[in-house]
Amino acid sequence: MRRNKARLAGNGAPFPRAATQALLLVLFIYPSSIIIPIGTCIKDFRYIRKHVLYRNYLSDEVLNIMGYLVWTKDLDTGIGVIDGQHKRIVEYINKLHDARLTRDNKSIGDIIEDTIDYTMSHFSFEEALLEDAGYQFVRPHKKVHALFIRRVAEFQARYKAGEDVSEELHGLLARWLFNHIRNDDAAYVLAVKSTINSLTGDKGEGGWVARSFKKFFS
Ligand SMILES: [Fe+2]
Ligand SMILES: [Fe+2]
Repeated sequence: MRRNKARLAGNGAPFPRAATQALLLVLFIYPSSIIIPIGTCIKDFRYIRKHVLYRNYLSDEVLNIMGYLVWTKDLDTGIGVIDGQHKRIVEYINKLHDARLTRDNKSIGDIIEDTIDYTMSHFSFEEALLEDAGYQFVRPHKKVHALFIRRVAEFQARYKAGEDVSEELHGLLARWLFNHIRNDDAAYVLAVKSTINSLTGDKGEGGWVARSFKKFFS
């Protein structure tokens, strides 16, 4: 929880929006690009451009019909522990949907905080898993998470300043999560599924999953 707060606090700057997006993104990602091989920068940038900048989000029309998010088979990654966490985030987003209908500001605020906190714990867990599995795009995947956290931090700041952002935030969370699972997360499963399975296969006390749960969710 404290770890997540620190991560949020460090990501409060505005998210780049216009035609300069790509340039700003590179500067944000690689302030020390001189020491990172240029080939790696290009590969990582291509990944982020594909997964973040030019993604087709679900239209608001479709989302309005959905309103309440429903888990569908195509969202399953096949990695049990990851699917469980993704489903839990969907539950939080649906709780936010319910809270919006009650117009109870206190519960909306609590759910926003819980959703962000749980999502950030999931990101840390997933990033550690990808690092240990040797996924070649772990760095840009982490940057994709970081960019999302920056956007959500903006919403949280606006909410704390008294603005009603719940509808807009609900839309962003729902669109982003489903797209991220179907594209970015599905991509790492394709690449390193067998290594992930062997890391997460041990369900015992001292296994990877138990140790990581303790580290990122307590
Ligand atoms: Fe992810
Ligand atoms: Fe994920």
